[in-house]
Amino acid sequence: MEKYVIRGGNRLTGEIKVSGAKNAAVAILPATILAQGVFTIDNVPQISDIFVLIDILKTFGAKCEWIGDSTLRIDTTQVENRELPSSLSQRLRASYYFIGSLLGRFNYAKVATPGGCQFGAKRPIDMHIQGFEALGAKIPPADEVAKDDIVIAKADRLLGAHIYYEKVSVGATINCMLAAVRAKGVTYIENAAREPHVVDLANFLNKMGAKVKGAGTQTIEIEGCQDLHSVAEYSIIPDQIEAGTYMVAAAATRGDLTITNVTPEHLRSIIKSLRDCGAKVEVYEDSVRVYTQSELRPCTVCTQPHPGFPTDMQSQFAVLLCTCKGDSTIIENVWEDRFKYIRQLTRMQAQITQPVQSIAIIHGGSALKGAHVIADDLRAGAAMIIAGLCAEGETIVGEIQHVERGYENIVQKLRACNADISKQEFPDCAAAE
Ligand code: EPZ
Repeated sequence: MEKYVIRGGNRLTGEIKVSGAKNAAVAILPATILAQGVFTIDNVPQISDIFVLIDILKTFGAKCEWIGDSTLRIDTTQVENRELPSSLSQRLRASYYFIGSLLGRFNYAKVATPGGCQFGAKRPIDMHIQGFEALGAKIPPADEVAKDDIVIAKADRLLGAHIYYEKVSVGATINCMLAAVRAKGVTYIENAAREPHVVDLANFLNKMGAKVKGAGTQTIEIEGCQDLHSVAEYSIIPDQIEAGTYMVAAAATRGDLTITNVTPEHLRSIIKSLRDCGAKVEVYEDSVRVYTQSELRPCTVCTQPHPGFPTDMQSQFAVLLCTCKGDSTIIENVWEDRFKYIRQLTRMQAQITQPVQSIAIIHGGSALKGAHVIADDLRAGAAMIIAGLCAEGETIVGEIQHVERGYENIVQKLRACNADISKQEFPDCAAAE
């Protein structure tokens, strides 16, 4: 079993190039089955979530081929509607986007319930179902199909509708867009998610001939259209969270990093929080430089849907706050349980208390100590790496498959910037506990 071995204490310096956005790519790949033809998509990260999506596309009859390090060619000419089995859908959360795209293309989807990181008792998809039903799909109640954990959605013809979501959901917004682009009539999604990847999917769909307006605002308007076609050239946006992770790592190690291939406007809330701590952030057209000049200070971070501070950055930021002398507060507003990583950081001597499930108080300033820890989920794993880079001594991070779902070449990228990190094989019995 592979683990990361990190010797802490080195300042990160140099330049890191950010890859394409995982959460945009995992929506755009399923969108390709909405039309027949050959797609060429660039800036696709080579991460395990994408490899699983490619396997899923192949089970539907698509041909997928890497024609460059980050360029993927997908031929959907022979795509057929088939059941998506749990052996594939359980391997990533975004497999649920095939419910929307199969429904949009074939008016029928049979998809086993998705896997992915768990941040609470369950990750519900009730809002996705609400959207599909508003468009006229029939979905048998869960208890009729629950024994196999399968979602079946079918319609004679999807019809445009007004959909109002009571809370903001990235997944429900995206899934509803995927289903609605080929519906008859106009769909309005109100209280839509405004994340950069929602906008990227809308841009991709429009390149396919769809008529999507308002992505990036609270109301998305989709005029249904049957004549979608493939896209000869599309480049996925840079990964906002990967960029943010390296920005925070730069500040946490008191380093000096320039992070390239970024869209600075997607990083505003992260930049603000870094500056609140006293880190210096210089913003250029498609890069940012993060460094420190003076002692950093504690601050309060409150996660919100975009354009607020992303929940996918809070565990990494928590590590930075461990290095800032004084009490900081993190308030998690998106997920019910996204503080599992505290247990791991505590092994590294972090001083963190959790007065209620949604709030963590970080008593920063005492040195982190190397320890055996695990990546509870993707972003928690990134946080463990940053903690290892800051800590005294050696840190061993297990369960790294979670990290490799979403960070392309993280070891190589960090090593090129002075980090002492490597991936090593351990016998199974040496599992970190
Ligand atoms: C997306 O998950 C991201 N995943 C997550 O990133 C991210 O944490 C999350 O959005 C929030 O930004 C992908 O894009 C693949 P939501 P998603 O629906 O779409 C509740 C990462 O690390 N909700 O916006 O599943 C839900 O419980 C991953 O890259 C319902 O109640 O998140 C949560 O409290 C982890 N019913 C809130 O909405 C539903 O039907 C927001 O969830 C759907 C969601």
